[in-house]
Amino acid sequence: MELALYAPGLGYYSAGSTKIGSGGDFVTAPEISDLFSRCVASQCAQVLSVTGGEILELGAGTGRMALAVLESLAAAGVLPDRYSILEVSADLAERQRARLSSLPPSLRERVAWLERLPERPIRGVVLANEVLDALPCQRFVVEAAGASTSGGLAGHEPAAHELAALGSAIHELGVSLQGDSFIERAAIPDTALTSALESLLRELPQPLPPGYMSEVCLRLEPWIASVGECLERGLILLFDYGLPRSHYYHPQRVNGTLRCHFKQLAHDNPYINVGVQDITAWVDFTRVAEAGVAAGLDVAGFCTQAAFLLATGIETLVAGAVGVVEQARLAGEARRLLMPGEMGEAFKAIALTRDYDAALSGFTLQDLRHSL
Ligand SMILES: C[S@@+](CC[C@H](N)C(=O)[O-])C[C@H]1O[C@@H](n2cnc3c(N)ncnc32)[C@H](O)[C@@H]1O
Repeated sequence: MELALYAPGLGYYSAGSTKIGSGGDFVTAPEISDLFSRCVASQCAQVLSVTGGEILELGAGTGRMALAVLESLAAAGVLPDRYSILEVSADLAERQRARLSSLPPSLRERVAWLERLPERPIRGVVLANEVLDALPCQRFVVEAAGASTSGGLAGHEPAAHELAALGSAIHELGVSLQGDSFIERAAIPDTALTSALESLLRELPQPLPPGYMSEVCLRLEPWIASVGECLERGLILLFDYGLPRSHYYHPQRVNGTLRCHFKQLAHDNPYINVGVQDITAWVDFTRVAEAGVAAGLDVAGFCTQAAFLLATGIETLVAGAVGVVEQARLAGEARRLLMPGEMGEAFKAIALTRDYDAALSGFTLQDLRHSL
């Protein structure tokens, strides 16, 4: 997953495909409607009016959210001192530059692209929409005690020494080559994965059945830790599809959540279109919250995307549209963002804060923190 997404010049996010938007592989909330970004801007305005300072957006895609957030904040008269973007994809950074060049100079001059996270901690807001799901994860499979590891794994017969080492009932699902094709094969989990899987199994309210496949993202902790280090005071606001841990690892979710996106088609084969399709996994929000706490942050809110958008005034924005045609268009976009069968429930918003006790309007309608 790491190589398929990030190998220099070859990985999905390193090479030049269109990726996001109707001509690309998938569509995100800011691409569906600026209503999403205008609601995010409303949350940013509230925090910035308390903390002052700036906004840092991680993984800004086509730059559409950055544009709409800056325009909304300008209209509200609560501009950040700076709007920085950290983007790993060179071609997406290029698209962001082109899009944001349409801003008036007074706004454009606040935008900066960073090569790495800021060395001096900032005050204000850190934003990331659909970035956590792109962090490479590791897959595992539960085997019945004593079962051969070759059983459910395409075409692999582990060597004797591997079988001995694989004595435990959970194996990492690795990748190997057979001829010209990638195949899955059992691998020996390293120490970090073994200890993560052991504590996961200890915590789950029910055992996982034999054959159960899922994934763990060990990149979350260091990612949240390094982003947390950048924040002196304010809010880290993250959106993504995902679940609290006990739902994520529900015994009935037997094939995990790893998905691929290629030309608007979602499927579950990461071994084709390598480097030209997106590979993602749902986010274990309990792991995000734990990582936040370990980084000294407060978990100040957790709710569905629908609850966040309703609490930040999406209905008022639709109602305020001029003319019935525009209102109908916005109502259609809002439905896609809000409906449980679309993005409303699968997507969640989480607020991690540092030294911030004031209100967070986006999290006033629903509080799902007890589920984490
Ligand atoms: C699924 S896209 C979402 C883009 C945008 N936020 C949106 O909602 O349209 C993931 C974005 O995160 C970027 N990205 C992936 N891994 C990242 C990382 N480790 N740090 C920062 N950005 C990353 C990608 O290049 C891309 O811009």
